Amino acid sequence: MFISFEGIDGAGKSTVLKKIAERLRHDKTMDGCRGLLKNIIETREPYSPNLRRVILDADNKTRITELARFFLYQADRHMHVQDVIKPNIDDIILVDRGPVSTMAYQNITTLLDFDTISDVISVANEGIWPDCYIFFNVNREVAQKRLADEKDFFDKKNADFFELLIENYELLKIRMKKTATVIEIDANLSEEAVIDKVYYEIYRYIITYDLINSDARILKNSSQLPV
Ligand code: TYD
Repeated sequence: MFISFEGIDGAGKSTVLKKIAERLRHDKTMDGCRGLLKNIIETREPYSPNLRRVILDADNKTRITELARFFLYQADRHMHVQDVIKPNIDDIILVDRGPVSTMAYQNITTLLDFDTISDVISVANEGIWPDCYIFFNVNREVAQKRLADEKDFFDKKNADFFELLIENYELLKIRMKKTATVIEIDANLSEEAVIDKVYYEIYRYIITYDLINSDARILKNSSQLPV
């Protein structure tokens, strides 16, 4: 099972993801799952530390075009799928950002449309897309306040960029609903309130997913029995 946490910078995804993973690991009621869901894997995109350094250009050393950056995100995604997603797909994978971030951000930076970006992502991720997206809805002002400590942040991304991002996320919620589960969270609330809400939603999702998939697995196995 593959769950992606999505939202603009400052939405609080990373903090919440860590807390949710911890809580899931200690939740004894999860032992009742009938399927194979056992380990909780925490991961993020960009994934590779080396590629991440170049992609996010934290030290401003690498001249790179936005189209090149887009392809580097995909190179990193392929490594991520190979190293982390595929080997753990029968467990619970929680990823901090995924293909929705690429569509939301790289649509603005490269001007490629969602369909084109999505086609390239499908090559990079070998067609393995998240089963569920948690969208953190947050106002630009709230996000900006939370990011106030990241000094150079607004040199790179100004208020207009944020507004475009928020618009893209609205469109992507509708788009992703066609093929996956979309859960929306009001991330303007306090950290504790957001964690509780996300936990409730993820718990429900996991239990339902486990029931449906373990039944499918039982059916598949029984149909393979010799008659
Ligand atoms: P990070 O420091 O991980 O930010 P956050 O904690 O908010 O997730 O940096 C990831 C940045 O990369 C973030 O600004 C979003 C951007 N990004 C893209 O532009 N495209 C992508 O495909 C991904 C995964 C991230």
